[in-house]
Amino acid sequence: MKRIKKSTILPLIVLLLFSCSNKENSFVDENIKFATEQTKRMLDSIGEPQGKYPRTINDDGSLRTTNIYGWTSGFFPGTLWYLYELTNDNYWKEQAVKWTMPLEPNKDNTKDHDVGFMMYCSYGNGLRLTKNKEYKNILIQTANSLITRYNPVIKSIKSWEGGKAHNDTTIWNFPVIIDNMMNLELLMWASKVTGDQKYREIAVNHANTTIKNHIRPDYSCYHVVDYDTITGKVLDQATAQGYADNSTWARGQAWGIYGFTMMYRETKDTTYLNIAKKMADFFLNNPNLPEDKISFWDFNAGQTSYTPEWKYDYSQHKENLRDASAAAIASSAMFELAQHTGDRKYSDAATIMLKNLASDKYRASLGKNGNFILMHSTGSLPHGKEIDVPLVYADYYFLEALKRYKEMNSNK
Ligand code: GLY
Repeated sequence: MKRIKKSTILPLIVLLLFSCSNKENSFVDENIKFATEQTKRMLDSIGEPQGKYPRTINDDGSLRTTNIYGWTSGFFPGTLWYLYELTNDNYWKEQAVKWTMPLEPNKDNTKDHDVGFMMYCSYGNGLRLTKNKEYKNILIQTANSLITRYNPVIKSIKSWEGGKAHNDTTIWNFPVIIDNMMNLELLMWASKVTGDQKYREIAVNHANTTIKNHIRPDYSCYHVVDYDTITGKVLDQATAQGYADNSTWARGQAWGIYGFTMMYRETKDTTYLNIAKKMADFFLNNPNLPEDKISFWDFNAGQTSYTPEWKYDYSQHKENLRDASAAAIASSAMFELAQHTGDRKYSDAATIMLKNLASDKYRASLGKNGNFILMHSTGSLPHGKEIDVPLVYADYYFLEALKRYKEMNSNK
């Protein structure tokens, strides 16, 4: 065989790399263009912020909003901040500021563990991109409010107020949900900027308690764990938004992957990295993960040995429903996980999820879908709520994943 000269191979490699990077750039650019056009339409349709934040759509396709205290209120401002970061266009900064400021009263909100979502996605991104001192003080105050929900006996932050569980019989005292891992980022940040270790200690204790009681031996997770406030003992391991108590609710699994990856970033404790890897492996290796890696809403929906305690009639959904929001969260988390582990299997999977979410199957047409970006998310099937709809947090994590994909490629 004729030997190919080095001088011939080198330009070929350069050409190949150039055409790959061109393809990646045009994928990113096209998605940014779509997201900006779609979000401009959303802004035109909703007008000035008047305490109404986009959340999803109603059955008739009209926009459904949440007030500033709803757990999803921070995602729309967060989306606007990501659009500013991705475009460097001051128009998006102005919009982001406008939609962030009205959330300020949440700095004193002690009634909800989700202030982490509400304020870190809005003010947190705002601070990262503008260094606005006022934002910093608001976030520190929010962290102070969040830690009022910490119980030192249980070593966890309380998620919901308790009361009747979703099966309508059990009474929950101190329910903690896997989603709460996401609120710890605010606390880790608060310790760094104030120098006060109390926020970090609470976040670390909460994460460790979550490992002990939410994570199952196969690295799937319970959605809800309820505790006795006097003894700290586990009283119940259950679900609220998943199919059955022993099933794996896809978005819960995604929150876990994201939360433990973030805790590794902030502490460098490999325990968290190991949990994040194992939870991601559970997600990716699950025989019930569809080929396009956009998960069903629950990994065990409809399977034998998983018995819903709900009265909800699942048979009305002939096809198992997807949850694009779980895929968007998992995609974003796995881009970061790949960075910490150096394992390409996570960024490859994250890329497949991102590209499929950006395909016609999941990404809306311009001006449709209530002007949200992604279709086919599931909010809470057992409640019969937000089924196969757009959800504002699916869009937020989709843009975050897109940004992480862009950064990964420019660092190559
Ligand atoms: N954190 C609530 C949810 O994921 O639906």
